[in-house]
Amino acid sequence: MSTLTNKQIILGITGGIAAYKSAELARLLIDKGATVHVVMTTAAQEFITPLTMQALTGNPVHTTLLDPQAEAGMGHIQLARWADLILIAPASANFIARMTQGKGDDLLTTVCLASNAPVAIAPAMNQNMWQDAHTQRNLESLRADGKIIMGPADGPQACGDVGPGRMLEAAQIAQLAAEQFEKKGLSGKHVVINAGPTREAIDPVRYISNYSSGKMGYSLAEAAVEAGAKVTLISGPVNLAAPERVELISVISAEEMYQQSVKLAPNSDVFIASAAVADYRPVKVEPQKIKKQADVLQIQLTPNKDIVAAVAALDSKPFTVGFAAETQNLEDYAKKKLTQKKLDLIVANDVSKEDIGFNSDDNEVTLFWPSGQRSLDKASKRQLARQIIEFISQQLETTD
Ligand code: C5P
Repeated sequence: MSTLTNKQIILGITGGIAAYKSAELARLLIDKGATVHVVMTTAAQEFITPLTMQALTGNPVHTTLLDPQAEAGMGHIQLARWADLILIAPASANFIARMTQGKGDDLLTTVCLASNAPVAIAPAMNQNMWQDAHTQRNLESLRADGKIIMGPADGPQACGDVGPGRMLEAAQIAQLAAEQFEKKGLSGKHVVINAGPTREAIDPVRYISNYSSGKMGYSLAEAAVEAGAKVTLISGPVNLAAPERVELISVISAEEMYQQSVKLAPNSDVFIASAAVADYRPVKVEPQKIKKQADVLQIQLTPNKDIVAAVAALDSKPFTVGFAAETQNLEDYAKKKLTQKKLDLIVANDVSKEDIGFNSDDNEVTLFWPSGQRSLDKASKRQLARQIIEFISQQLETTD
């Protein structure tokens, strides 16, 4: 079980009926070993009294930004520096909106702005407010900034509605808070992943591409986030939703993917090239739609740059991982690519098998690295992604 021994937590409470659960949450955080300071907004005090929270935490409750007496005790900057984690539960729609705008118009928003600690929010609101486009846009933006969103749950609400927007139970939030401190394999690492196909324009309405779905790369991005990494996903055109807490950069052509990859890779710790980059592009992109005329239409192609080889050739080369999708001689071709492209690891799979690979949800891969190899059994791409990420973090540990 995860603990919060010696952890210093600011529990932020905003205005909502779920604030009654914050009392239980404070108690559970303390039970797990944390020291808790509570910061309440003005609206929160309509739902639960500062006295209750003070009695439970054994610490004075902080309510105002511009109170000289409070600032003389533990001022907002001291509070911000003191925290190992800022946990806001419940987080109302209004608070979420203010936070998204970067406002510092009360003590809680100011402490969030002034702190380097991770910020987690447990939203609680009416289901229509939760589903409102503003709220959803705000949450997306907070997620992209690295904020941790806990819940909400789905079910009956205090207002009589049923739907998403209920705050998670105090025990679930306390558990998630404790998990934030678990040492994860890729904590503090920046992982850049490219994924999906590229499209190479022939004319304004046509292109050359391939069947890559992007599922493997997106699963790797999710697994890397789970392992604690900061993740940037450079994606070709796919029909997949952006994974949570991942910075998504959308590109179309191999050249665009190359530019983004070589820009981001030098400052990353791990680069994973899971994209099915088109090997060739038309020499000339016709400015007008090509008309149907001759019996044979010839399109001249020229090779695209090899992205993963370019990254592996960088002076400040990250741990570089390539993929080899082959229809024959898997081992031979994979090992050749590992050496020729100077990779640290190559993930090889046989795309001639119909039940795995390209568009499938499953895959079966073999990992080759300069001093060894390991086959991973057939599994869902999500499960395989976790195993691959786990393997990469072990390799990083041995080279660190
Ligand atoms: O040489 P091949 O295309 O089979 O190698 C596959 C690996 O190389 C994959 O990791 C793929 O993302 C990467 N690659 C690349 N740039 C290219 C072609 C392939 O990064 N132009």
